[in-house]
Amino acid sequence: MRSTNVSHKLIGGYLAKNVYCDDGRLLLGKNVKLTPSLIDKLIDNDVYIVYINDQLSDGIEINSVISEEKMNHCVRKVKEVLQNIASKDEKGVQTMIREEDLNMVSDIIKDLIDALEDSENTLYTVVDLMGADMYTYKHSVNVAVLSILTCRSLGYDYNLTKHVAMGALLHDIGKSAVKDNLIQKVERLTDDELKEVHNHAVYGYNMIKDEIGLSGYSKQIVRLHHEKRDGSGYPLGLSETEIPDFVRIVTICDMFDAMTASRVYKRKMPVYEVLDILMAESVYRLDAAILQMFTKNICVFPPGSGVSLTDGRLGLVVEYNVFNPTRPKIRVFEDEEGNFKVQHLDLSEHRTVFIEKTIETDIIQEHYKL
Ligand SMILES: [Fe+2]
Repeated sequence: MRSTNVSHKLIGGYLAKNVYCDDGRLLLGKNVKLTPSLIDKLIDNDVYIVYINDQLSDGIEINSVISEEKMNHCVRKVKEVLQNIASKDEKGVQTMIREEDLNMVSDIIKDLIDALEDSENTLYTVVDLMGADMYTYKHSVNVAVLSILTCRSLGYDYNLTKHVAMGALLHDIGKSAVKDNLIQKVERLTDDELKEVHNHAVYGYNMIKDEIGLSGYSKQIVRLHHEKRDGSGYPLGLSETEIPDFVRIVTICDMFDAMTASRVYKRKMPVYEVLDILMAESVYRLDAAILQMFTKNICVFPPGSGVSLTDGRLGLVVEYNVFNPTRPKIRVFEDEEGNFKVQHLDLSEHRTVFIEKTIETDIIQEHYKL
């Protein structure tokens, strides 16, 4: 199995994973043979990346910390609950948050913590199988999942993890109070527009600050998730120890997911580049110790992705190495002399060969005429 961009080049190929519509219905099932009209259907539904099975990627399995069915179910629930929380009356005034909606947030988080319990030796893989319209909801669930994993690595107990994850799930609820055209705007924002977008942290906090069904931890996450250690963040410009650890976790998870996601106007960045940026940010702005714990859970080179090696060969990642994340097993298509030969190269045993960068898997197919 490998991930690839949706295009008519995939005609005749087989889907390796289910693809869902925004409302949670199955758009196309696993093992479906792709025809021109099915490719058009994917494009019409804003699906840009799919997993396929073919000769190139045969036998490669992709495990994720959470099943795609569970993820899909959670994203749909989160869509429902966040829309309820953000609802306004006919005069445009924010309505009260209903108790059942906060209970639903709590249930989603309990469900996620339970689902992640058995994933100790599985790394978090960035997946992108839903349409762009679901971005906000998927982002909220991803940030909650990443926060739970980081809390586990930091040794947080169940209750604290739950409060942090509830804050993570709700962190951007204030965006519903900012005009949609500003949130969606592709062009550079003016200073005033940027200020208004930044207000989402305070808007969100005001929406929930009097809720007895939410802990102070969750409320502070909504309010402070854009604060930075050097005082350059917002809304309060707090610095160093003024920003609690449980907030710093969500800040890192939020930035990671935003940078690794592909959106209509933005290609996604490879995971190792995102981790490098976060690492640089941790010198002054992010918490370096928390970032280290966060990184331990992240799959840097996911199975099924394409890579180019420093010895000039191209290959597909077959299996990651939990103890040595930058040295996975690679399927290469030529031997050291440059003759076509499919073989496995375990980078943990070949210390002089390095991954140069990730590449589209189609490039490998074209290069070796597979
Ligand atoms: Fe935010």
